[in-house]
Amino acid sequence: MSECMNFTEGEFYQRHFDSRAYVKNFYSCPRGHSDEKDFLTFVLGCLSRVFSAGEHGGQRLIDVGSGPSIHSVLSACEHYDEIVLSDFADNNRIEIEKWLKNEEGCLDWKPILQHICDLEGKSPSDLEASLKQRVKKVLKCDVRLDNPFYPHTLEPADCVITSLCLEAACKDIQTYRRALHGLNKLLRPGGILVMVGVLGETFYKVDEQSFSCLRLSQSDIEETLRGLGLSIQEFNLLPVEEEPGSNSVSDFEAVFQLVARKPSD
Ligand SMILES: C[S@@+](CC[C@H](N)C(=O)[O-])C[C@H]1O[C@@H](n2cnc3c(N)ncnc32)[C@H](O)[C@@H]1O
Repeated sequence: MSECMNFTEGEFYQRHFDSRAYVKNFYSCPRGHSDEKDFLTFVLGCLSRVFSAGEHGGQRLIDVGSGPSIHSVLSACEHYDEIVLSDFADNNRIEIEKWLKNEEGCLDWKPILQHICDLEGKSPSDLEASLKQRVKKVLKCDVRLDNPFYPHTLEPADCVITSLCLEAACKDIQTYRRALHGLNKLLRPGGILVMVGVLGETFYKVDEQSFSCLRLSQSDIEETLRGLGLSIQEFNLLPVEEEPGSNSVSDFEAVFQLVARKPSD
């Protein structure tokens, strides 16, 4: 797919990304999309383990490229006082705002909340209330900019989370490296970057609409992070085990979750 059409950058998401179809296809239940076996349970389990240990926490958490989704900050949220969610596409931010305000017809995150609470021994209604109370802003961002939140300057964060955004937003490895440089600048010294992503993927589909993905290897990511001076604390990988051709919605070879720390001054 990547060879026959231009890379689908942020402007394409603004026009063609169906936020509600995305959540319906990939986040209606903890198993995620049936073609992407174990993808979402792996991601939710990793994020839960990272934050349940109680080792990470602080004042501010920024999720970069949230899409219409809140799943990536659920395990983290009670460890940070202020949370910023963000995305390039207006519709994604609108869906998050609707959910935060409990508007009629808002997206249903109950199955995912329940799954995380089963893992962590929490109450879904308490966790939902905690997150809603802590999200202070839902901002437009563009990871291709040196400051992704321009014209805003955000206070340095204790934690930056990003899930499946950079490989969707960056058309080549140079843009990807610059985007990680921008995310690193959002972190305070000693802060952590928590990233979820895919290796070897060139496309994914939301209903019938295809989106490009930058094909990455583990070493592309590790070299970029080390080049920025970050130390990789964990790199968890779930390789695809299905028969080739059994996944009609994406062609990822593995899903990963990592934690990298910015050195203290
Ligand atoms: C595959 S979705 C990931 C959404 C969510 N974080 C998740 O884990 O499901 C990719 C997201 O990247 C966003 N995006 C695309 N280009 C972007 C850019 N230049 N800056 C910020 N976000 C961008 C899209 O709008 C979309 O919400």
